[in-house]
Amino acid sequence: MDTPQYQSYFLTNPYFSAVIKQNPIYQNQNYFKTMCGIVAYIGSKQAYPILIKGLQRLEYRGYDSAGVALLNGNLNVYKKKGKVSELLSFAHDKDVSATLGIGHTRWATHGKPDDINAHPHLSGNGRLVLVHNGIIENYATLKTALQRLGHEFISETDTEVLVHLIEELQERENLLLEEAVRIALSKVHGAYAIVVIDKEDPTKIVAARKQSPLVLGIGNGEFLLASDATPIVEHTKRVVYLNDGEIVTARRDGSFEIKTINNEIQAPFIQKLDLTIEALEKGGYDYFMLKEIHEQPQTIADAMRGRINATEGWVRLGGMEEHLNRIMNADRLIIVACGTSWHAGLVAEYLFEELARLPVEVEYASEFRYRNPVITEKDVVIAISQSGETADTLAAIELAKERGALIYGIVNAVGSSIARLTDGGSYIHAGPEIGVASTKAFTGQVTLLTLMALEIGYKRGKIRKSEFQRLLTELEQIPSKVEEVLKINKAVEYISSEIKDSNNALYLGRGYNFPVALEGALKLKEISYIHAEGYPAAEMKHGPIALIDENMPCVIVCTNQSAYEKIVSNIQEVKARKGVVIAIVTEGDTVIKNLADYTLEIPDTAEPLTPLLSVIPLQLLSYHIAVMRNCNVDQPRNLAKSVTVE
Ligand code: F6R
Repeated sequence: MDTPQYQSYFLTNPYFSAVIKQNPIYQNQNYFKTMCGIVAYIGSKQAYPILIKGLQRLEYRGYDSAGVALLNGNLNVYKKKGKVSELLSFAHDKDVSATLGIGHTRWATHGKPDDINAHPHLSGNGRLVLVHNGIIENYATLKTALQRLGHEFISETDTEVLVHLIEELQERENLLLEEAVRIALSKVHGAYAIVVIDKEDPTKIVAARKQSPLVLGIGNGEFLLASDATPIVEHTKRVVYLNDGEIVTARRDGSFEIKTINNEIQAPFIQKLDLTIEALEKGGYDYFMLKEIHEQPQTIADAMRGRINATEGWVRLGGMEEHLNRIMNADRLIIVACGTSWHAGLVAEYLFEELARLPVEVEYASEFRYRNPVITEKDVVIAISQSGETADTLAAIELAKERGALIYGIVNAVGSSIARLTDGGSYIHAGPEIGVASTKAFTGQVTLLTLMALEIGYKRGKIRKSEFQRLLTELEQIPSKVEEVLKINKAVEYISSEIKDSNNALYLGRGYNFPVALEGALKLKEISYIHAEGYPAAEMKHGPIALIDENMPCVIVCTNQSAYEKIVSNIQEVKARKGVVIAIVTEGDTVIKNLADYTLEIPDTAEPLTPLLSVIPLQLLSYHIAVMRNCNVDQPRNLAKSVTVE
């Protein structure tokens, strides 16, 4: 509870109360979050190398500036615009000794990316230092109030306001740091994960979260805090995923305590991490993206492990068991997702309609959440997300939940916000995906959705036993067929060299391969910065055909069995206008080979499973083109891996 002193001070101060209460945005539970990565260390080791390595692991969350604060009697703060490597060069001749420190890698929201706006931020008296991931929505109000009390700010960030607010409380009321943080957080609105340390008290770190992830690693006489478990895993496997509204105080003596903002002590739920260091390294590949593309035979197998047995003729998703009746009898499946995950959702539309005969709607989470959609208790919402932290998807889930739908998650990141918000779900078990462009998560998602559609379809009596058996057998062979596809890497590299200087590209596909065409186009534009459009092949003549000339590469996915002649006609239409055709065909295809400029063969499989194979050459194509254009494959400009802003 607040003491009467703080209540009187804050409740009577118009700047700290009135505006907050009146503004509806502050009551809104939407996920206005930023990306950014946080890492912190207290213990007996040198903090700086731990922080730097941790920040490099978190760079997928943002990489426009980075900084550290190190406490060794003196409080040294080093921060720099650009990647963690810039910070490293900047700090190479500085005093970096300390056994307590905090670090941050930023993706700017408030204030441009520069040295001043980079985190950590100091309090006015130079005593406190703080890193923050999130957005303080009422920062302007708080800033004005603090300015009236004499505070001066040097950055444009909301974060600096927060550290001044904590300072104000600590000084005015002579509070312990954790208490000042707790009271301050009860005055702020928005999303945050923060870590703060006090120059006058090197015995502890205080951290808190609301709607931005934060993990506490519990080592032997040491603690780490980070936005995800990747900076922690090589120091300890014991972690606590903090819940919204929790504050942790981790002390040098090895003790820690978790409280809520309402001052209630919480019993910690300590989990064991299932993550290896090897999974976080490039393992001999030039880029994480290439490594992740090559991991797909394994990750697809991992997504199926223990969930399918073709010989015995069953598919079983543990997470679905409890909800099976509701899903099987749903009026409608509504799939919500963004980006590549949305493309996996589109593949699922074909799968569920064909195999389970259930009506499906696939929604961009960002549109769905603002559209006042019709949702009933008979609907089942499937939320797909690699990171499990995408703001729009989270908000769409909240909305559907409020309206009574069951929410099922298909998620990669274990313990993520989406995994925890859904009523049930299945992990895809693809391991950490570090390249910003999603590859193995897509095939993992499609694998899981295929298993779901097969289980539901079979149990609903919509697939004959023989067909069910055939699809299971084919599905079990997909990992080895992906290995086969990966062998065409050299041919893809050659084609990439032929088209790398194009300014535009068209990706076409029909049926199951239409979402694959969209995904191929997205991959190309996001990492090579070539403008690319994905289209259903038959739609081409309703507009895009006007763009086709000898400078327009058209990547056409032609592995369909059902619409084969139609796609052959589409190729002829492109060739008649001198377009350059790169065709993805089934092994042994001779017809298209004679028409297309380049063909890439992939093994035959059952049509509903083709996306798992046909997407691989498109991933490789975008990768090679991006490398040839000297683009930063793993960290393309303006993007971040985990899109926690709307
Ligand atoms: C594209 C890509 C993005 C993500 C999208 C959703 O390669 O990675 O389009 O797919 O931001 O992210 P998740 O799946 O984490 O919700």
